[in-house]
Amino acid sequence: MSNPPVYYFDSNATTRIAPEVVESMLPLWTDDWGNPSSAYTFGHRVAASLDTARSQVAALINADPQEVIFTSCGTEASNAALQSALATQPGKRHLVMSAVEHSANLKLGQLLEKRGCEVTLLPVDSLGELDVHELAESVRPDTALVSVMTANNETGVIFPIEEIAALCRSKGVLFHTDAVQAPGKLKLDVRAWGVDFLSLSAHKLHAPKGIGILYARRGVPFSPLVVGGGQERGRRAGTENTGYIVGFGRAAQLAQQSLEADVPRIRALRDRLESGIFSRITGVTRNGAVEPRLPNTSNLSFSACEAEAILLLLDRAGICASSGSACTTGSLAPSHVLTAMGRTPAQALGSVRFSLSKYTTDAEVDFLLAKLPAMIDTLRGSSPAA
Ligand SMILES: Cc1ncc(COP(=O)(O)O)c(C=O)c1O
Repeated sequence: MSNPPVYYFDSNATTRIAPEVVESMLPLWTDDWGNPSSAYTFGHRVAASLDTARSQVAALINADPQEVIFTSCGTEASNAALQSALATQPGKRHLVMSAVEHSANLKLGQLLEKRGCEVTLLPVDSLGELDVHELAESVRPDTALVSVMTANNETGVIFPIEEIAALCRSKGVLFHTDAVQAPGKLKLDVRAWGVDFLSLSAHKLHAPKGIGILYARRGVPFSPLVVGGGQERGRRAGTENTGYIVGFGRAAQLAQQSLEADVPRIRALRDRLESGIFSRITGVTRNGAVEPRLPNTSNLSFSACEAEAILLLLDRAGICASSGSACTTGSLAPSHVLTAMGRTPAQALGSVRFSLSKYTTDAEVDFLLAKLPAMIDTLRGSSPAA
């Protein structure tokens, strides 16, 4: 029996793996399964595939291939950047990050505080935007690193990375950006931006889960998080996840080739979804700035409704969406992002994120627009707050 259809609006949680990516990975398990560090030709062949993938991912962010370090995921990449900045600057124990970072950064910050570091969390305004002057004022002589995400995973709000990087450079402070939500949606350019570190995760880009990169600018002091063998030029030990690295490379190449065609189409679908919801359902407000915002993301609060109940009804119709960050789904605590933006707990708990991808179709948007109004009516009819 085939599975029922899935209407997928959760591409900020993870993305469909591109068939071209699957195809690129298979030979690494069937034929070229050698160890890339081996001295014989069979190993060299795998090493050559990794070189190609490294160049493909580097091209996506305009880096030199040698500046790309493969990691197990985006979380590891961000952990490596933060810990490296502290390890290479032993006199500096202060970190600055936004209050709306992913838990990959925030939870590490909390752990580091227990180990004697100090973390300044920068507030955002009601649109989810940062005050760069406040950021400038928060930097101290003992600041080891500033870490601000390229775009927020819940609201899609984009931060002024080039401006923040320039500011950090002028103050002599290292800068890391968690760009996990950006590729395939935004043009990335580490050289033009002038960042020291940047994290990516392949599964947000139509490649498998469990592979990421840390970009570390040439010349930036680096201390590895994972030590052992000499892989990744001694910057990340452990035999490489060869198939996934090759898949990541292919996904990066596809994203780069089709960015200009994909983005306007995704944006138009997202805007049609958003305006369709506004025109069909009352009591809906958008969370986050309209622009600059990722072209695929819409985060909406439905008054007098609980997101968990909306998600349950959506799920029954085969529609996937999420409330807050996917990593915190299952917990009923209001989203830290929406809370930081000044939303009340009720508003935050009534918020649903719809996130699209290049595979989202008009028919999927039509289906969601046809189903959602009646679901909200049902919930409001049964909600004591209605
Ligand atoms: C902004 C952001 N950073 C980091 C991560 C973590 O990436 P990974 O799942 O590869 O560890 C995510 C995943 O949701 C994310 O959205």
